[in-house]
Amino acid sequence: MSNPKITVVGAGFVGATTAQRIVEKDIADVVLIDIVEGLPQGKALDMMESAPIEGFRSRIVGTNDYADTKNSDIIIITAGLARKPGMSRDDLLAKNADIISGIVRACAKESPDAIIIVVTNPLDVMTYLAWKTSGFKPNRVFGMAGALDSARYGYFVADEMKCAPGEVDAVVLGGHGDQMVPVPKHTTVKGKSIVGMIDPKRIEEINQRTRDGGAEIVKHLKTGSAFYAPSSSVVRMVRAILQDSGEVIPCCVYLTGQYGIKDVYCGVPARLGRNGVRDVVEIELTEEEKTELTASAEHVRENCAKLKVPV
Ligand code: NAI
Ligand code: 2OP
Repeated sequence: MSNPKITVVGAGFVGATTAQRIVEKDIADVVLIDIVEGLPQGKALDMMESAPIEGFRSRIVGTNDYADTKNSDIIIITAGLARKPGMSRDDLLAKNADIISGIVRACAKESPDAIIIVVTNPLDVMTYLAWKTSGFKPNRVFGMAGALDSARYGYFVADEMKCAPGEVDAVVLGGHGDQMVPVPKHTTVKGKSIVGMIDPKRIEEINQRTRDGGAEIVKHLKTGSAFYAPSSSVVRMVRAILQDSGEVIPCCVYLTGQYGIKDVYCGVPARLGRNGVRDVVEIELTEEEKTELTASAEHVRENCAKLKVPV
């Protein structure tokens, strides 16, 4: 059986690291595409030259031509501008909207049966735009953010509890922005909720650090934003899809009434499989969390309305 084919659009920090993780883990063959001539070709060749040492058999090619992406199983969109210090994710909206709509049109033409995972910020709005532009069913267009926000939350909890990060199962819902909703009750260490194990005041501090997780990295890096944990998070989703595992991962998906929210993309736990989103999993939330999730979704809706591109 041939290896699955994944296109990664954008050969920058997130795109190249995602591509590297995919080929090194022998998950799929990768086409790395960017608007800058030579950038994806150089990075792809550099990665292939590591194959004799790393021992992977998957192939990666770099290109500037969408014809090379033909019949991809999954398209991961990381192209666009990244946040600079003092810049909100929403500031990126107008600039990245033009980029995303052009890319999605080109990708959808070459791979009409693909699943699209959007990474570019502002994530929830770009995912909506990708869905509208592609003409695909919403189960095949979704965004990566909840996996990252939950991973950050999980790491901070592990650091607090002095346990192995792998023993933490963390849940963060809502849009990928300042209004994201960490859910302590459903965040567990070895299956036990952190509520009751960590002091409530400390939980609130960890929740806030999670909301500020992206900005904390930007502050350190000064130019550019996070890419190691983001690429790990995308690959977690890719694996669930290709293995048809049904793993439940917080993702930015189109809601049709779940959690009382309708006709907007927002982060919720979703079961992933070979056809993309199988279903949305509704977990019990407190009244406060429900209100916060609704507010976060409404913020996404307001920003979608700001899109200048015809959708
Ligand atoms: P980067 O600047 O390193 O890479 C972006 C790449 O996109 C560049 O190589 C650039 O040449 C390319 N590009 C620009 N316009 C293009 C076009 N029209 N067609 C093809 N390629 C094009 O940025 P980085 O760090 O890789 O971040 C990428 C995006 O991902 C940003 O929008 C960032 O905010 C977002 N991001 C989202 C996360 C999430 O949780 N959803 C996490 C981390 C980053
Ligand atoms: C992050 O959360 C920049 O959205 C990106 O790191």
